[in-house]
Amino acid sequence: MYMNELMCIKVSNCRISRLKKFFQKDINYKYSDEFIKNSKRLILGNIPPEIIRMFNQDKANKIKIFQDALAQTAFIIRGTHKKLKHYNIINNSIEELEPAELNTIETNISNFFNIRIKDIMPKGYIANFEFSGKGAFANVFKFSLKNECDEKIMHDKALKVFHNIDCPLDSLKDTQNLFAEANFWEFIKKAAGHNLSKTQLTKHYMSDLKSGFIMTEFCDSTICQTKFPLNLVKIFKVVSSDLQQNALISDKIYDVGGFRKLPDFINDKVTLRYYKKLKNQKSVVDLEILIARIKLLINNPKTPHREKIRKALELFLSD
Ligand SMILES: Nc1ncnc2c1ncn2[C@@H]1O[C@H](COP(=O)(O)OP(=O)(O)OP(=O)(O)O)[C@@H](O)[C@H]1O
Ligand SMILES: [Mg+2]
Repeated sequence: MYMNELMCIKVSNCRISRLKKFFQKDINYKYSDEFIKNSKRLILGNIPPEIIRMFNQDKANKIKIFQDALAQTAFIIRGTHKKLKHYNIINNSIEELEPAELNTIETNISNFFNIRIKDIMPKGYIANFEFSGKGAFANVFKFSLKNECDEKIMHDKALKVFHNIDCPLDSLKDTQNLFAEANFWEFIKKAAGHNLSKTQLTKHYMSDLKSGFIMTEFCDSTICQTKFPLNLVKIFKVVSSDLQQNALISDKIYDVGGFRKLPDFINDKVTLRYYKKLKNQKSVVDLEILIARIKLLINNPKTPHREKIRKALELFLSD
């Protein structure tokens, strides 16, 4: 009845109020970039909790100042890289600079950031940015925060500053660059059902889709070890086309650009929840008990989402 009205909706003009939910549901969207840019909230996640805990009063405002400082720093990092390339001072990466020059850039970036957070941080706290690496899509800096006694107040973080907000290649935008990576982080966190620290993926903190950066845990020998790896292929049905190129650091996957869903990808949260439960059973006995329980649920007409649960069992049994 409303088909004509529906046909008139131009998806790219829609404003998504809950971008996070949109990202949690699925990956590899071939949306128009405008769709995302029109979203009401372009920051997903938040700055690390160790920093938030330092703000006793006026928390929301201080978080905003900290996020803004990161956004402006990302802008400076992107601009510095572009300018050095534009003037042919570097061909590809700021790594080509003399160590002293690179050091000056890192100091300038750190000073720029410290001035912006000065009023909200306890006295003597200093942040430091150190260049970590460059890829086709981004520059990554190690971000450290020390207190007045020169002690780190948290494990270092990685600030991934994308060279461009939009994916430079249209054909790659469903898997690569800022939006696809931010999408993947939200999806996998939700699908896993817990934070990622003990998995083979590095922990994700925030994605700023307006300023073009993503903050994750910095991978080094002191990062939280992988104890419960996610079975990305067999349970979550996603595979990375990029993994061969990116060597893991301390066994962690840090670059989620390139992840693609497999044909049997489950894009319903109830089905995935039950499928995961079935897959995660350690013993045959436990599995049999679970299957019996699930069959009871499916046969009870009062069970909400019966069809979705049935689907999970069907998928599991057909594996
Ligand atoms: N979380 C992290 N911890 C430590 N180092 C990191 C982290 N993220 C990135 N790096 C470093 O920065 C480099 C570039 O990062 P990344 O691979 O994510 O960028 P990219 O532009 O997506 O690269 P690619 O061209 O491989 O897709 C990496 O090779 C690695 O050395
Ligand atoms: Mg990449």
